[in-house]
Amino acid sequence: KLEAVIFDLDGVITDTAEYHYQAWKQLADEIGVPFDREFNEQLKGIGRLESLELILSRGELQLTEAEKIALADRKNENYKQLIESISPDDLLPGILTLLKQLRENGVKIGLASASKNAPAVLEKLGITQYFDAIADASKIKKGKPDPEIFLTAADLLGVPYRNCIGIEDAEAGIAAIKEAQMTAVGVGNRETLKHADWIVDTTVELTFERLVEIKG
Ligand code: G6P
Ligand code: MG
Repeated sequence: KLEAVIFDLDGVITDTAEYHYQAWKQLADEIGVPFDREFNEQLKGIGRLESLELILSRGELQLTEAEKIALADRKNENYKQLIESISPDDLLPGILTLLKQLRENGVKIGLASASKNAPAVLEKLGITQYFDAIADASKIKKGKPDPEIFLTAADLLGVPYRNCIGIEDAEAGIAAIKEAQMTAVGVGNRETLKHADWIVDTTVELTFERLVEIKG
């Protein structure tokens, strides 16, 4: 039974996954580490400092904690500039309709984004009011692929895990949803998201009817 849908944000609700990519690319170029879209797939859904660690180890760079924090801050400044002008026009196709239909049908809506910028992005998109629960990324101890953030969102919603659908664009995110014993829907790359229960190419395919159908 479908009782709740728990969304990832970046790359599912809006295309901020692209801005995270651009912000990391800018930083990687500055510190001389090779960075491309293929490598970026590994960073999707992964927290800020953890992502930086992956970039540093790729460049075989060893930095002090203070230097790491400075670089992570620099990336976040790049990112904040890129998201400055986000508006409701930046919602991916079909998402607003889906949020409305979920509400109308009494299906709870949760957010499980690792991004500390998530509440600000929801505000800019004008959709904060649709969410019954938003997991606080700054309080999560273990990032995706650990299921903690999805479990936290479901607990806040008061819905049994098996009655939740999670929607993700990241390999680590699909792993987290599956580990949480929820139904996993992947948006995007069929190879990296192959462990999902259902994969769509674009958010247009995420209709309320289909979600009810896959939950049975
Ligand atoms: C999401 C994105 C990642 C990002 C992480 C942390 O999971 O998919 O690309 O690194 O959030 O975001 P933040 O805005 O806190 O740096
Ligand atoms: Mg994502």
